[in-house]
Amino acid sequence: MTHSVAVPIVRVDPRHPDPALLAPAAAALRAGELVGFPTETVYGLGASALDERAAARIFAAKRRPSHHPLIVHVLDAARAQELASEWPVLAQTLSAAFWPGPLTLVVPKREHVPDLVTAGLPSVALRAPAHPVARALLSAAGIPIAAPSANRYQSVSPTTAGHVERSLGLDALAWLIDGGPTTVGIESTVVDLTGERPVLLRPGGLEASAIEAITGPLARVESVEEDRARASPGLAARHYSPDASVELVERASLTVRARMGVGRVGVILRGGGELDGIDHLLELPEDPREYARLLYAALHTLDELGCARILIERLPDTPDWAALRDRLSRAATPG
Ligand code: TXA
Ligand code: MG
Repeated sequence: MTHSVAVPIVRVDPRHPDPALLAPAAAALRAGELVGFPTETVYGLGASALDERAAARIFAAKRRPSHHPLIVHVLDAARAQELASEWPVLAQTLSAAFWPGPLTLVVPKREHVPDLVTAGLPSVALRAPAHPVARALLSAAGIPIAAPSANRYQSVSPTTAGHVERSLGLDALAWLIDGGPTTVGIESTVVDLTGERPVLLRPGGLEASAIEAITGPLARVESVEEDRARASPGLAARHYSPDASVELVERASLTVRARMGVGRVGVILRGGGELDGIDHLLELPEDPREYARLLYAALHTLDELGCARILIERLPDTPDWAALRDRLSRAATPG
């Protein structure tokens, strides 16, 4: 029997990460290797954003098609500008207002950003993460870090180091940094600043209304040209999906739907409640931020419990639930 060498998992204090613990992972990044690390949104699969071969390892590890661009993580707006050929006034305003935090800005790229990182696009997606561990790693590495969510292509993003291990495996990683569960729980909001009007490409951890208080109404992706939308794979109809099939169902219909179909059934409620005949019943909070923090862990859990079907109570139709409605509609199985 053969045993693979265990990937070092480094446990760090999420609030006060010890730089000495992160130094080997930072060196691995500089050497072109992959490192799993926490951000405030979800765990990232990091590689040097300036090294095309390192970026190629990300695509291979995720089994992600190479036409899907990566988000590049930087410490701040000054570092971001080193990667941008233009820095629009709105990039300045929005980064000043919301960085570090769960906001990604798409701006024209400089030539030295490898084409593979941006999937051949003339633009690059930039984000300064707020998580102290991500920031300490960026400081120690001294390079921008390209990092998609650390999961297999199209599956649910990881919000714990355990999810990374389960969804991606450890074989491709030089290091996995465990900074505990992430606090935002869904991916960053992505805003495209390359056109005349800013476009909300992906709703996410930063509420669109907070951005619109500064920019005025953002264009929605439904209303932009198809090629611009296609450039943003987070918009793919099926994405963020667990292994189980997912259905969005009104509370009143949950019991009936659960009895239809075969296999173990998991149900995710919003708020408390009793339901009969459900194999696994999970309750998520009624506050959208708290719901977001816990949603992916709930999906990972129901997958691990072997559910063939997951029924999720429909979410309210209000703006504060928009990012979660977006994720669940993409997690849901078409048809
Ligand atoms: O919260 C997050 O954003 C996480 C953490 C790790 O930072 N990262 C993440 O990365 O979600 P990923 O690769 O799963 O999502 C990247 C998103 C895609 O939806 C992609 O469409 C968009 O960013 N994107 C990246 N570069 C782009 C570009 N040049 N133009 C348009 N969209 C871009
Ligand atoms: Mg992803």
